[in-house]
Amino acid sequence: MTQQNRGRNVVVIGTQWGDEGKGKVVDWLTDHAAAVARFQGGHNAGHTLVIKGKKTALQLIPSGVMRDGVACYIGNGVVVDPSHLLSEIERLEAAGVDVRSRLFISESCPLILPFHVEVDRAREALRESSGAGKIGTTGKGIGPAYEDKVARRALRVQDLKHPERFAKKLHELLELHNFVLQGYLKGQPLEFQPIFDHAMKVAEQLRPMLADVGVRIDQTNLEGGNVLFEGAQGTLLDIDHGTYPYVTSSNCVAGNAAAGSGVGPDKLHYILGITKAYTTRVGSGPFPTELPIDAPGTVGHHLSTVGQERGTVTGRARRCGWLDAAALKRSILINGVSGLCITKLDVLDGLQEIKMCVGYELDGRRIDILPLDADEIVACKPVYETFPGWSDSTAGLTQWDHLPLNARRYLERVQECIGAPIDMVSTGPDREDTILLRHPYKA
Ligand code: IMP
Repeated sequence: MTQQNRGRNVVVIGTQWGDEGKGKVVDWLTDHAAAVARFQGGHNAGHTLVIKGKKTALQLIPSGVMRDGVACYIGNGVVVDPSHLLSEIERLEAAGVDVRSRLFISESCPLILPFHVEVDRAREALRESSGAGKIGTTGKGIGPAYEDKVARRALRVQDLKHPERFAKKLHELLELHNFVLQGYLKGQPLEFQPIFDHAMKVAEQLRPMLADVGVRIDQTNLEGGNVLFEGAQGTLLDIDHGTYPYVTSSNCVAGNAAAGSGVGPDKLHYILGITKAYTTRVGSGPFPTELPIDAPGTVGHHLSTVGQERGTVTGRARRCGWLDAAALKRSILINGVSGLCITKLDVLDGLQEIKMCVGYELDGRRIDILPLDADEIVACKPVYETFPGWSDSTAGLTQWDHLPLNARRYLERVQECIGAPIDMVSTGPDREDTILLRHPYKA
């Protein structure tokens, strides 16, 4: 096969604090993909797909699973809760989706086990009671599992193949976590046997799906198949580049698509940044353009209710605010975004005026990019540009020219401010509600 006939790969990442609508876009793009790979995060992610009016919520399994024949890879950068994975597989199967024949899980994924969940929740409770303030985690054990990975003591998917090795490592890890749970977090210790027995039962079911994901992605490309890398969370929740410490515990940025799935960065051909037409955030942490959401008749209430801004995983109300171009600038820089997909534009329909933050005032200075220090972000006062709104509905539109003039003007200014082209606009939750300006697989 010549270089030219090799498959092309697109990376889809969130440019804000997650929940940008990546799932829908990934699902739409799988039309052109032979495989979809997750490369970071775990079941803290929540993707809601609407296909022919029917809603499906996915957390760990790549969104490609909703297209027949598309292979789904869970790369080494993902933390896997084996019980959760199995129940997600069973739930999809009950809905008639074939999963096991096309789901491949990297052997190198660190496992999330019950004590990680306990530690996550007990630590949040301690932060709250001590006045340090919660991070607002999803309580799924994500942070503690990544800590074990980096400390080089994690149990990994491959350990499920070796019961004796698994038992030995589990004993050691449980001892450590029970020590922390009891001594520091004032919680209850967990018992070895139920964790071990359950893990072995799940292991039997997962074993046929274990794979060398990096090699499979390479092979898919060699055979001419395109791969889609599906990011979870968003750039501003990235462990290094986000609003630390109010972040998740993995790198959510595009560069990690390579390290988190076992291929080289030369395999990342086009980076699609997903950007909601306004901003939302779940959990704690700074959010310069945040608006109050509770009072009916306010913009915040409009965004929250019309946008149905409630977390897929935890059901928490999302915080809402105007689009922040200065924060997006940081995202574009870190991810090397090739093009943007603007989502949920229709939520802005009917607003009299629309604002976009184009920079901040900080200590009497004007800055045009989100600072790196969370305390400085808290002190930032947004500088806004104001645009006239539009009354016509944009819901379900599929042509750029059919958008109201004011909507086009707003979007044109967005791309000008953040320095990346808008290649797609999503105008509703269904696959068909999409305006395409430049196809990521043909760019
Ligand atoms: P964790 O990932 O559960 O440790 O949570 C850390 C932070 O990331 C919290 O503020 C969560 O609300 C946020 N977070 C984690 N996953 C998602 C997601 O998929 N969408 C939006 N926020 C998320």
